[in-house]
Amino acid sequence: MKILNFGSLNIDYTYSVGHIVQPGETITSGSLEVFPGGKGLNQSIALARAGADVYHAGLIGKDGIFLRELCRNSGVNTDYIRVVETRTGNAIIQVSEKGENCIILYPGANREQTEEYIDEVMKGFGEGDVLLLQNEINLLDHLISEGAKKGMKIVLNPSPFDEKITACDLTKVSLFMINEVEGEQITGAKDPEQILEKMGTMYPGAETVLTLGDKGSVYANRTERIRQQPVKVKTVDTTAAGDTFTGYYLAAVMEGKDKPQAMKEAAYAAALAVSGKGASSSIPMKKDVDAFMRKAVS
Ligand code: RIB
Repeated sequence: MKILNFGSLNIDYTYSVGHIVQPGETITSGSLEVFPGGKGLNQSIALARAGADVYHAGLIGKDGIFLRELCRNSGVNTDYIRVVETRTGNAIIQVSEKGENCIILYPGANREQTEEYIDEVMKGFGEGDVLLLQNEINLLDHLISEGAKKGMKIVLNPSPFDEKITACDLTKVSLFMINEVEGEQITGAKDPEQILEKMGTMYPGAETVLTLGDKGSVYANRTERIRQQPVKVKTVDTTAAGDTFTGYYLAAVMEGKDKPQAMKEAAYAAALAVSGKGASSSIPMKKDVDAFMRKAVS
């Protein structure tokens, strides 16, 4: 079973600030650091560091060739990443002293996908393979319908949520990886249990993993709930914590581990990501996640 992650690759410009800037306010940042990022790239690196056989497809400009190198050096198959004339997508990220962040995305090359490119990549994948998607690239609807036609298992992290998500046929999705905000945007419910109830009614064939920040996470299908307690750490930077959770969860499930174990590994990996700076640079190696879990029980 192979996993194809069709997703964004970004250059993250990360500014450390005392607090997140308010409307009409000008503030001076303490530092600017440039990190590899993008929800797609982060999730592929998390998958690879967790031991999965992951193929990444997506577009970069010439200024983003280092992102492809990083993916390759991290164990991601980069054969499907293409270089186009448009500049690489980027993100302007503020990280506050409390470790909170806010992000402005410039899509750049991430929105240059064509149906021809997608169809060409999809030739390499078939029934039973996993197609992982987020919402930072264009033609998500085409990807979902082509993936479903091939019998691929579609995993969707609908982030950032916007009207492009609602335009897709989400009944074709097998697994939703969502946080509370996305859960409310999809279902209209605020309470986590109601979000899961409504997800089950709207998409009865799908599983949902709902992350709840410092309240942990829950796996749900029509008949089952699995709760994972939060893993407490000092928050340095929450960027890519959700991406790390997604990558580690999927890698564990694809390896045949049971859902409680997959949720646990994902939670510990995400906690380590929160304790480090930057997006992909904070994604831990599997041996460090294992050591962290062992320390927690001893
Ligand atoms: O999920 C974190 C990511 O969101 C960042 O790396 C940034 O590029 C944005 O895509």
